[in-house]
Amino acid sequence: MTKENQADKQEFSKGLEGVISNTTKIGYVDGQGGRLIYRGYDIRDLAEHASYEETAYLLLYGKLPDLKELADFSGKLVSYRDLPADVLDRIVDLPCPCHPMSLLRTGISLLECMTDTCHTAENLDSKREEGIKLIAQMATLTAAIARLLKHQSPVSPDHHLSHSANFLYMLSGKRAEPLAERVMDVSLILHADHGMNASTFASMVVASTLSDLYSSITSGIATLKGPLHGGANERVIQMLMSLGSVQEAETYVGHAIASKEKIMGFGHRVYKTYDPRAKILQAYARDVTEMTGNRRLFEIAEAVEKRVTEAYSQKGVFPNVDFYSGLIYHSLGIDRGIFTPIFAVGRIAGWVARVIEYLEDNRLFRPRAVYVGPIDLPYLPMEKRNFS
Ligand code: ACO
Repeated sequence: MTKENQADKQEFSKGLEGVISNTTKIGYVDGQGGRLIYRGYDIRDLAEHASYEETAYLLLYGKLPDLKELADFSGKLVSYRDLPADVLDRIVDLPCPCHPMSLLRTGISLLECMTDTCHTAENLDSKREEGIKLIAQMATLTAAIARLLKHQSPVSPDHHLSHSANFLYMLSGKRAEPLAERVMDVSLILHADHGMNASTFASMVVASTLSDLYSSITSGIATLKGPLHGGANERVIQMLMSLGSVQEAETYVGHAIASKEKIMGFGHRVYKTYDPRAKILQAYARDVTEMTGNRRLFEIAEAVEKRVTEAYSQKGVFPNVDFYSGLIYHSLGIDRGIFTPIFAVGRIAGWVARVIEYLEDNRLFRPRAVYVGPIDLPYLPMEKRNFS
């Protein structure tokens, strides 16, 4: 091994943990203090007072919009909601009933190739505009996929409704209760950005090659799909529904702890205290489960949380955003497979904002790996290869 490789080995950080790759003004995750900041504003204030449209504007433009700016931005999102008809036809024709995240990823790829302007936006303003269009279309595509998988016709967007109210309307075909609309809006706000998480990083790596925004977003979706990232919310509801009572919840957690099994919806690479998003969603989960008659599931979730935090809080393992989001979506009648796509419906604002910010001063991402294999092996002709 060369001296350079030995030095690499001392410095390297598996999974790039703790490695700082850029500066940003978009968002800050305070893992010790349990705070999340978007452009200077605490997520708790945004969740209490802002709409998803306002939050997306804030992330993209770096300031809260005034009345006119918000009206223009919201109007733009509305105008971009419709999908080219061919996109859904192609998805229906796919032979495999894939995971909805795979359909979403495919749908975004199709959107690029089925518009009459199939080219990479040339400057950052047009890229941002393309991003705003994708923020709107991601919601329409997700709702359509949810319905197609249930053999229902997609519901056209209602241009009089807000982003979240329209999303729920396109999912069910019915106008949702005000509490349901608010909780969806809050959930999309809470998911809109979260530091250099894996899917944001993946989007930025793609963008740094000067590839197009559609490719960045598809890689974000692909990365978010995994159960160590956005896919955990599906596993959480699976777990909660398999537990019939608080007593069973306690027994299950006891077994999981004894066998050192990872419990979905707990732990985080950055938060070593309570994820502030989980705290906000917990309160909404209580209200939504009360409204929809799912109170027992909420009690089971609280019992799981109590037992897990008693055992693991010393290690910094607390509920993360995925723990209560799945419970909320389930209570709203949304199928499990759509939970992670909903995460993408919110997170796309952060992906677009961070890609554009990075491209303002782009540098190709190119980390290195420490080579630990052999070197200088002599090439063996076929007749001399006997590896058994
Ligand atoms: N259940 C039980 N123990 C856990 C959990 C968990 N969910 N998460 C972490 N721990 C324990 C680990 O076993 C480890 O214990 P040890 O020190 O005795 O070996 C310690 O806490 C540190 O865990 P790491 O895995 O090193 O923490 P890391 O920061 O790498 O992992 C991760 C973060 C991947 C999210 C992990 O907590 C996990 O797998 N959680 C379950 C999946 C999940 O909920 N993912 C969603 C994350 S949030 C998001 O992406 C939106």
